[in-house]
Amino acid sequence: MAREQFGICAEPNLHSYYLMFNVLDNKNNFIRKALAALPALFDDYADQFSESNLNTVIAIGANYWDEYYPQARPQGFKPFSHLQVEDRYAPANNYDLFIEIRSDRADVNHVVSINVCELLNDAVELVEQVKGFRYLDGRDLTGFVDGSENPKGMHKREVALVSETEQAEFAKGSYLHIQRYKHNLTLWQTLKEKQQEDIIGRTKRDDIEYASEDKPLTAHIKRTNLKDSNGKSLEIVRQSMPYGHMKIQGLFFVAYCHTPENFELQLKSMIAGDGHGNFDHLLKYTQAETGAAFFAPSLDFIAAIAEN
Ligand code: HEM
Repeated sequence: MAREQFGICAEPNLHSYYLMFNVLDNKNNFIRKALAALPALFDDYADQFSESNLNTVIAIGANYWDEYYPQARPQGFKPFSHLQVEDRYAPANNYDLFIEIRSDRADVNHVVSINVCELLNDAVELVEQVKGFRYLDGRDLTGFVDGSENPKGMHKREVALVSETEQAEFAKGSYLHIQRYKHNLTLWQTLKEKQQEDIIGRTKRDDIEYASEDKPLTAHIKRTNLKDSNGKSLEIVRQSMPYGHMKIQGLFFVAYCHTPENFELQLKSMIAGDGHGNFDHLLKYTQAETGAAFFAPSLDFIAAIAEN
């Protein structure tokens, strides 16, 4: 049975390093072999620094997938599409590769990142790198706890991972969407605490969900808590972390799912709203600056591709 990449469902860490690459021409064979060598490198560091709880994910961009594995595509796997309604928009970048390195030690992430870059060096261009960190008790920089309603336990695996019955060839893989959001914290901090809470749909200090009847239609959790026609929740597993420095701060949004659709529907619901003018008011205080779609195959898939 295929094994998933362990960073997909792992518990949150204290630090992260996100690396986004584009692959140079005629380097596909090299890339298949180099990516297949990465899990052993990650295991070595995980053993050497076992207290750091190293968690990693290797993911292939939607535009690059056909070069990586021309034989077949995961169902519905498509590039991130630019979305715009009035002044609300989500840009699309679509990098070829995404490597997520998370642990409880920034120095371990750093040395692992150096090794990843050295291994891939001749075949890629590093397009973007972002360092994330845990803020207070798992809060976004808006001050609200982020991740509370994430699926838990075995259910988390069901939400994040493609099952054998869905797509045997891509079982234990995961569809991944990322967006780097830049917050306007100066504007956010002009709001009273109750106004901020109405925008999220939860209380700030104690992280308590509003009662259904009190939740504004424009609240972030109202716009993202969607159900299918049978009343089943369309869930995702979020692994986002804050990033930034004194000039730019925000959230590096990361979501895994067994289908690409849940994220796509949630983002549409945030930006386009419910058809009655109720869009996500969080978007007045934060702006996505990047966006990309990837597939994170199982460890066995990554190893098998390199042997072909
Ligand atoms: C700057 C960007 C974002 C911030 C600061 C943010 C923050 C939050 C916070 C504070 C919560 C409530 C606590 C929790 O359950 O985690 C939440 C919930 C949630 N967010 Fe976001 N979020 C952002 C972007 C997104 C995006 C882009 C999506 C998906 C397209 C998304 C999907 C969700 C979902 C599904 C929930 C749980 C809703 C529920 O069932 O209650 N978020 N977010």
